[in-house]
Amino acid sequence: MQELTLLQPDDWHVHLRDEDALAMTVPAAAHSFGRSIVMPNLVPPITKLDQARSYYNRIMEHRPAGSDWQPLMVLYLTDMTTPEDIREAKDSGLIFGCKYYPAGATTNSDSGVTNLHGLGDVFAAMQEVGLVLQLHGEVTDSAVDIFDREAVFIERYLGAIAEQFPQLKIILEHVTTEQGINFVRNSSANVAATITPQHLLYNRNDMLVGGMRPHLFCLPILKRDHHQRALIDAATSGDKKFFLGTDSAPHARHAKEAECCSAGCFSHHAPLELYAEVFEQEDAMQHLEAFASLNGPEFYQLPPNTKKVTLQQQEWNLPATINYGSDELVPLAAGQLVRWRCVPAGV
Ligand code: DOR
Ligand code: ZN
Repeated sequence: MQELTLLQPDDWHVHLRDEDALAMTVPAAAHSFGRSIVMPNLVPPITKLDQARSYYNRIMEHRPAGSDWQPLMVLYLTDMTTPEDIREAKDSGLIFGCKYYPAGATTNSDSGVTNLHGLGDVFAAMQEVGLVLQLHGEVTDSAVDIFDREAVFIERYLGAIAEQFPQLKIILEHVTTEQGINFVRNSSANVAATITPQHLLYNRNDMLVGGMRPHLFCLPILKRDHHQRALIDAATSGDKKFFLGTDSAPHARHAKEAECCSAGCFSHHAPLELYAEVFEQEDAMQHLEAFASLNGPEFYQLPPNTKKVTLQQQEWNLPATINYGSDELVPLAAGQLVRWRCVPAGV
């Protein structure tokens, strides 16, 4: 195959950060995607509608001229979130989901939820108005091994939430385990998952064998190879329940190559190219459009994009570094050869 044209993809999970970072992250998002679900884990987090509105405006200042890319905003759930916050968010038309971070689970999650059971009224309101619950599905219990934190979350909480709120639309964000894939497959149509390029391309051996590679450290952490296999099978199957969410999360090089490495991989330098590597290897390029452009909008009850993008078969080397404000960062698969190149939307 020389060329593949598909409806323009969307990214259902990205971290754009704020201020100076937006000058790089917003054009990068607009280069590959029609819409992006923008994660709210700023400092302080986006917990209220008015904060989301001003963040939206700051983002839009950096949208390249001529682009019609849209940021889709998200509220960050805390122990203080109320059903009124949910109704106000829905009525605004600006908010597309609410993100659950367990307190302390990951980057900028300190204000996250300490007691999931305390959110019953909030989940009920989300179910009623139709706002998507986006889960960082890990427990933070220090007694639970980091490699088991997703599986334990599913066992302890996810089944109960899905059962108690059967009409609530739930996304297990950046799913990383076979247990997660199986849970989603065996649930109703209201439960789905996003999958990142790093969890498809790598497993924990890639991160740890022969020395630690900090630029592969993200949360949930890369798992063993059979989990990677389950993710690849789900993503490349065309199953509606699985769709693209890069979790692209920029961190300056010095924050990654540090005594305490911050969690996150930046993949917005070549997101479709990285996914295409996996789909091609699986001989599943015919399912890339479902994963990247159709399944996500269907779950969010939005129309697919109408523009098209083209992936051309062309070998090129990804950049080794990318400028990030006054710093630089090392992107996913830095310097490596990829076999596809995306022609930007509208070209
Ligand atoms: O690796 C991660 N990085 N996981 C997250 O959940 C957050 C993200 C970030 O914001 O850097
Ligand atoms: Zn994320």
